[in-house]
Amino acid sequence: MAGSPWDPDQYDLFAAEREQPFWDLAGLLEPKPGASLVDLGCGDGRLTVSLHERIGAGHTLGVDSSPEMLARADSVARVGVTFAAGDIATWVGSDVDVVFSNAALQWVGEHREVLGRWRKSLAPGGQLAVQVPGNWDHASHLVLTELARERLGGDAPPDPVAVNVLKPEEYSKLLYELGFKRQLVRMQVYTHILADTESLVEWMKGTSMNRVKRLLEPDDYQEFVESYKARILKRLGYERPFFYPFKRILIWGSLS
Ligand SMILES: C[S@@+](CC[C@H](N)C(=O)[O-])C[C@H]1O[C@@H](n2cnc3c(N)ncnc32)[C@H](O)[C@@H]1O
Repeated sequence: MAGSPWDPDQYDLFAAEREQPFWDLAGLLEPKPGASLVDLGCGDGRLTVSLHERIGAGHTLGVDSSPEMLARADSVARVGVTFAAGDIATWVGSDVDVVFSNAALQWVGEHREVLGRWRKSLAPGGQLAVQVPGNWDHASHLVLTELARERLGGDAPPDPVAVNVLKPEEYSKLLYELGFKRQLVRMQVYTHILADTESLVEWMKGTSMNRVKRLLEPDDYQEFVESYKARILKRLGYERPFFYPFKRILIWGSLS
């Protein structure tokens, strides 16, 4: 079995596209200078540091489970921003003003329980801001799931987005039940113009394909990637440029 699958360089190939929802989510936060901020599933920490500066936080903690991502994050740590290894599925803090998580919650299940713990971690008047993808029904993801089943049979990991991510209205009800006095939950379609259809392969290698990569030896993974490319081209045809609509759910709640 391969080691930890996250590759910060591969993820960063589409840094501009992946940053858009991050900043849309950050834009939902109400200003609270000196706030304590936690960024769950912080990745390589670059955006965590920018967010810390943008909102004028007093202290920021970034949490991630990937040693590769944390190694990068440690190199950008500075006064007021620290990083720690941890599992966001079980993470709980106390008296946090802002719990923020961009494009990470989809990797874990039981969102009602997990968001319940994140809410308990908030100080009075605290804010929660979470973004999860909702794109499991695009061919890019369906072909991956289909091919993984063919190659790995019963061992094929399901698409976490299809299995874990709730409907927007379910997050809305959950925020209400958790005591958030104000909220905004919206589904947004991000319009990504990729160089061509084949670019989808590089996109998927940066994130969703990691669930297959972790189960295969390097040669077998390479062969899997080639099969994925062939099937995607067959399914979608070759287009240059390629228009890639990407649905995401943005969730914000305030306790006051
Ligand atoms: C798609 S990246 C997003 C990184 C960053 N939030 C951003 O917006 O650029 C997802 C991150 O979630 C982390 N992650 C996935 N599952 C996790 C878990 N159970 N606990 C902690 N981090 C996790 C991965 O290691 C990865 O760095």
